[in-house]
Amino acid sequence: MHSGGGEKVSAWTVLVNEAIAGGVTLFVLWMTTRWVKETIAPMIEDTQNAKAAQKAIVDRLIKAGISPEKLQGLTQWEVAIAQELVFPEDIEGGMHTIGGLENEKQVLYDDILIPLTRPDLFRGNALLTPPRGILLYGPPGTGKTSLAKALAKQGSVSFMCVSPSSLLSKWVGDTQHLTRAIFSLAARIEPCLIFLDEIDALFRERSAGDHEVYRDMKAEFMQLWDGLFTTNDCRIIVVGCTNRPWDVDPAIQRRLPRSIKVDLPNVSQRVKILQTILRSTQLDRSMDLLSVAKQAPGYSGSDLKELCRCALMIPMKEKLQQESKSIADSARSASLRPLTTEDMLEAVRNIRPTTTQSSEYRNELMKQGTGGAYTTDLSTSEDQMRNELRDFLLGTIAMGQGMGKNPPQD
Ligand SMILES: Nc1ncnc2c1ncn2[C@@H]1O[C@H](COP(=O)(O)OP(=O)(O)OP(=O)(O)O)[C@@H](O)[C@H]1O
Ligand SMILES: [Mg+2]
Repeated sequence: MHSGGGEKVSAWTVLVNEAIAGGVTLFVLWMTTRWVKETIAPMIEDTQNAKAAQKAIVDRLIKAGISPEKLQGLTQWEVAIAQELVFPEDIEGGMHTIGGLENEKQVLYDDILIPLTRPDLFRGNALLTPPRGILLYGPPGTGKTSLAKALAKQGSVSFMCVSPSSLLSKWVGDTQHLTRAIFSLAARIEPCLIFLDEIDALFRERSAGDHEVYRDMKAEFMQLWDGLFTTNDCRIIVVGCTNRPWDVDPAIQRRLPRSIKVDLPNVSQRVKILQTILRSTQLDRSMDLLSVAKQAPGYSGSDLKELCRCALMIPMKEKLQQESKSIADSARSASLRPLTTEDMLEAVRNIRPTTTQSSEYRNELMKQGTGGAYTTDLSTSEDQMRNELRDFLLGTIAMGQGMGKNPPQD
């Protein structure tokens, strides 16, 4: 009896044990599948995505005229940096869309475009060393970034925009790889303009509290940058841009031997900027841009653009009001009445200059002894300006008669 009961118990025990073992095996299998799904699969997907991104970048570079041989062995960091590349044909606007900065344009042309596009002229003469770095500084909205981009477009030079976010990776080690990738990629695609926007944020003055990764990145960047100075044939130039030049690390400033101040425009420059911005807008015969410019001291190019946009809204609103009163669809047309001086002066009353509000810039420049941020001198004689304006106005009126409506703005 006992032994029969014992056999029964042990059979049950075996059955239960086997069930438990089976359950455990199933559980382990399920956990392994989950782990593979959650860990390995995304890694495979990442690799596939990285390959696709690399192919897309290589295709884009080849389409932009870079020879496939130069792109062999492109690293993942070069691919990441290549996302920040803008090719000349993709740059909107151009030199003709920037007004009143004729001197700055000329200096940039001489100092950047000639060395980048004609390195042969610099060969064989130790004195003729092309600059490897230029700093553009000035109050916000004065056209620094636009100038650098327009320059790259004019010279058919690739524009690599490096911002703090594109360089400082959260992964330790990546930042240094990315720093190297800037210069190695630039060497593959030269001529190239490495544009350091907000250079004060990227290379601020050193302090004891700086993170090790940041310090290493800076040291690496400067070392690679110095490498550019060893040959006159190199067609890579670094252009830094800031509205806080006093915050840039002195070691970086030393590597930017040329610095160009892009200041707030004076009256004659403001007239030129207004002409540039309004070049495809129909203006009233009586439009007096000189009076408008005189009423807008301290306005930056960006403020003047906003001012023109605000002024153009006045005929636009009038038109919408007229349309709401008339029921007939035939009364609707795309054309606006020509812009008048009164519209512009009304906009001057509504739009305040942004830099004047932040007096910090001017105070700081005064302290540095570089002078006030705005000048109101009339470098061009008033008569000369009025003559130029009359020609400009006649041009826009003729254009308006030709088209019968306002063309789209840039
Ligand atoms: N001289 C100018 N002529 C025509 N447009 C201008 C001029 N200056 C600025 N603008 C317009 O103002 C806007 C801002 O210009 P941009 O970004 O080049 O200024 P910035 O000096 O780089 O400013 P920030 O220092 O804030 O970066 C652009 O849309 C540009 O078209
Ligand atoms: Mg800028």
